Amino acid sequence: MSGAPRRRPLGVVTRGTTNPNRLRRVDNWIVATCADRLRAAADPLVVDLGYGATPVTAVELRARLAAGVRRDVRLVGLEIDPARVAAATPAADPPGLTFARGGFELAGLRPVLVRALNVLRQYDESEVPDAWRTMTAALAPGGALVEGTCDELGRLASWLLVDVDGPRTLTLAAKLTTLGSPAELAERLPKALIHRNVPGEAVHDLIRALDDAWHAAAPYATFGPRQRWLRAVGRLRDDGWPVLDGPRRWRHGELTLRWPLP
Ligand SMILES: C[S@@+](CC[C@H](N)C(=O)[O-])C[C@H]1O[C@@H](n2cnc3c(N)ncnc32)[C@H](O)[C@@H]1O
Repeated sequence: MSGAPRRRPLGVVTRGTTNPNRLRRVDNWIVATCADRLRAAADPLVVDLGYGATPVTAVELRARLAAGVRRDVRLVGLEIDPARVAAATPAADPPGLTFARGGFELAGLRPVLVRALNVLRQYDESEVPDAWRTMTAALAPGGALVEGTCDELGRLASWLLVDVDGPRTLTLAAKLTTLGSPAELAERLPKALIHRNVPGEAVHDLIRALDDAWHAAAPYATFGPRQRWLRAVGRLRDDGWPVLDGPRRWRHGELTLRWPLP
């Protein structure tokens, strides 16, 4: 064989926990928010990094993107654990869906979008900036990384949109019918923020402001949790937080803010 030796995938094998439909909130947001990037791409290549013990969420992301954005989307599921690549192979459906071994270097691919959910959570916070830099350096021009965390069933989730210049937006998302209070989202912040939910940090002020707005909107609970959430998010925007989108996205239990926060 000739050519340069293959680089070792960057990163470490971690727990492979996953669940069907666990990533539906982030996927629906990607379909709504990243569609233009994907439609404009000469090569509509998407990487799902760290899909876990089964490829179910990679299969779902490909299906959602094919149905909602581009039928010719190509999704490559990358895993650092070779046993998980072998286990996923029967689910491949080339050319639209394939699986390969790879890490933060993205195995030499140049995707326009990378989803990495519940991957960095098991790393040390100090490793996050390098992981972001490595992944975003591998993106196609104009590409982005969606990196975040959720609970086992995907009822509480948060993610950052990161490009070569760093994080651009933060999204918090919850299943409103089971949400007791927005403070619950603090346990599911992306790795870069989870240890920063302490006084003096912007993300702490944000969670507190959202929680206060939710409690102030308690009378709207009579009309259901969605009306209460809409009211709370509207209040945050009126109070000067850099809230993006509008009720059409908020009604899904989402809140997206420009990052960094003021
Ligand atoms: C908890 S699972 C997440 C599965 C799925 N993304 C989800 O959210 O349900 C994390 C997976 O990421 C993989 N992983 C960790 N670091 C990685 C890296 N640098 N590159 C590729 N995969 C990685 C682990 O081997 C593990 O299978």
